[in-house]
This record gives sequence, structure tokens and C-alpha cells, in this order.
Amino acid sequence: MSQFNVFEFRSHFPMLNGKKMQNEPLVFLDNASTTFKPIEVFDAIRQYYFEHTSNSHRGDYDLCYEMDQKVYETRTKVAQFINARKPEEIVFTSGASMSLNIIAYGLMNEINEGDEIIIDEAEHASNVLPWFRVAELKGAKIKYIPLSKEGRLLASNLKEVITNKTKVVSVAHVTNVLGFISESKEMAAICHIFGAYFVLDGAQSVPHMKTDVIDLDCDFLVFSAHKMYGPTGLGVIYGKKELLDKMQPLLTGGGMNAKFLACGDVRYLSAPERLEAGTLNLEGIYGLNAAIDFIEKYDIEKMNEYEKELREYAIKRLKELPNVIIYNELAEAAIITINVKDIFAQDLSTYLNSKGIATRSGQHCAKILIDHLHSLATVRISLAPYNTKEEIDILVDALKGSGGFLDAYFA
Ligand code: ALA
Repeated sequence: MSQFNVFEFRSHFPMLNGKKMQNEPLVFLDNASTTFKPIEVFDAIRQYYFEHTSNSHRGDYDLCYEMDQKVYETRTKVAQFINARKPEEIVFTSGASMSLNIIAYGLMNEINEGDEIIIDEAEHASNVLPWFRVAELKGAKIKYIPLSKEGRLLASNLKEVITNKTKVVSVAHVTNVLGFISESKEMAAICHIFGAYFVLDGAQSVPHMKTDVIDLDCDFLVFSAHKMYGPTGLGVIYGKKELLDKMQPLLTGGGMNAKFLACGDVRYLSAPERLEAGTLNLEGIYGLNAAIDFIEKYDIEKMNEYEKELREYAIKRLKELPNVIIYNELAEAAIITINVKDIFAQDLSTYLNSKGIATRSGQHCAKILIDHLHSLATVRISLAPYNTKEEIDILVDALKGSGGFLDAYFA
């Protein structure tokens, strides 16, 4: 039994304080999409607007100076959270999708006709489409790491496709539909033998497990604040400093240049500012700062242990239902992807909604994965440490009692 006190943890989240959906107590099982925010995060954002409103890097007065300090403090906190070497390796963006677009564009100068970019079939659109665009613009080739039969990303399978022409390998640290942890450290080592950059999408991993970029030796890691109890509209790029410094910026403008002249001569700043054109999402930075404090107070490893216990319980209960197909019984992350035999996934999610249960159905932005799953759509149950065994029981009871709405279930 984990030491984690789920009921105390829940008490910090206003969305869990008696909220109803369809007149039923809300059971939120779509945490891979976004998480609820604790009161501490709202307090921090309020503090920004009520006491500290100002811009960063732009004014010679106390409020601005304090804002600069807050941005630096948050960069340092994020760096420590993922074990980056220094705060300058942390770039603030608008989200993980923007982060991946910035990286793809930023590396474009190093990709030439005939070069290869390697991804895999389990990737979210954010880690596919920026690379498709670069490949198209530069005449490079997209290749896929074959998934294991189960759907895992294995280093041995990367070895089958990587060559001396490979410039980038970009994969999810935890895949968003199947919830498997990729063999990232081993893949990074293989990439570096071949001289390729290794990009990790940490959107589904960083919020749930201890992340150590030095140990992983990834060249880049991206994630979003809103999936880790922080606000929407703020993302992060971790990148090795020397790589960030040579990337061509996707966005240009204020705050990222050292000088520009009428003749068109421009000099950009070094990282991280080089990649942060325009005003930063400062309320978001206040929020993320508080979200990290919140996670650290509860200890991410204890939270992870509790999520595992909850997942195990959910799998055990779901297996009691003969009509439920589980696609990822052995996955490590707290994501369980299912279908009910002969029921269209969207109908099942709509039915669960009528019982107050929020799940995601469809392809979950991982539109190539359907070839591997042999299913056009699935229902995803994704857990957070504020979910309870009682909520799993509500889900299982709803699935059991679905006959009236979902005729095929009892057919
Ligand atoms: N990336 C989010 C998900 O997988 C939106 O649901």
C-alpha cells in the first residue's frame, strides 16, 4: 500500500469539490489530456495579477526587476526538476506542440536532401507533423521505428532503421495512447553513435515520473505545464545549451535580438532568450512555479507509486468484464486504453459522460497508431493521483450497467 493520502491531495483541487457532470458526481479520467489545478496554482496566478503585474526584460523599475527574478527562479526550478545542468537550458514556449515546432524548425538548417528523420507510429500529431513539414521542405525522408507486437518503443528496433543519414530521432518518452515507457536512454546512446539528435516528447512522462535529462542524455525534451497541474499556454523545451544556441529561431521579435540595423543586419541573443520572442506567458510562469512546488511537496515518486496501485486495481476490475478489450494491460503509465466489444468508442464515451465519467475516445491525436491497434477508435482512461479506487468502481459499474444505452453490450 502506498503512503500517499489521496483524500488530502484531492482537497487542494476546486474541480473536485462537489463538481457534477450530467447531474452525477464528476469522475475525471482524462488526465492525459489535461489535469486539474490545485488552489496553490490559482493563488500564484492571482499573486501575479494582484501584486506583481509587469513585463520581464523590459523595464528599469522594481516590478520589472522582480519579474525578471521570478522568471529566472522558475527556469532554475524547472531545470532542477528535470536535472538539467543549468537554467539557460530551459526555454519557455506556449506548449509542447510549440516546443516541438521550434525544435523541428530550429534544426532545419542541419537537415539536407536525402537525410532521414525517424519517428514511430505511436506518436501524437505534435511529434509527427512538424517533422513531416521539415521533411517536405528539405527533401528528407521520414522513417518509422517498428513498434513491438505489444506497441512498445524498443532500442533494438531503432537499430533496425537508423543509418548514417539519420539526423533526428524524435519519440515520446511515454506514448499517449498506450502508455508504454520508451527505452529512451538506450535510444539516445544509439542516436549519438550515429551522430543524430535525440528529441523526447515528455508531455506524458514529466508530470508522472522522475525525469533526469542528464541520465537520459536526450538532446531535447519537451513538456506542457497544463498536464502537470499548471496553467494552459505554457510549455518547456529543455535543450543542451550548445544546441539551443545554434538553432535558428522559429519566432523572431522583441526580447530575442541583440541588435538589428536598417540595412537588415540582425544579431540574435543566445539561448534561452533567442527562442523566446515576444512577451512570455508570465502568469503561466507563476503558475508553473507553484505547480512544481506542489508536486515536490507530495513527492513525484510517491504519486507515481499510487498511480501504479490505482492502475493495477483498474486493470483487475476491468478484467472482470468479459466484453472489455484492454489494449495495454502491461503498460507502465497510468493510461488504460479499451474498447467494449461491438460498441463504437465514441458511443461508449458518450454513455460514460451520461454517468458523470469523463474519458477520451477516438484516435487521441495518434492517427497512425490505428494501423497497429487494428481499431479505428478506442476509449482512453487516464489517471492522476487524485483519482480513487471508488472512482474506478463507478467506472466499472457504469460499464456493467450499460445495457439500456449500449444494446450490443448485452447482445
Ligand atoms: N495530448 C493530449 C492527449 O493525448 C491532448 O489527450
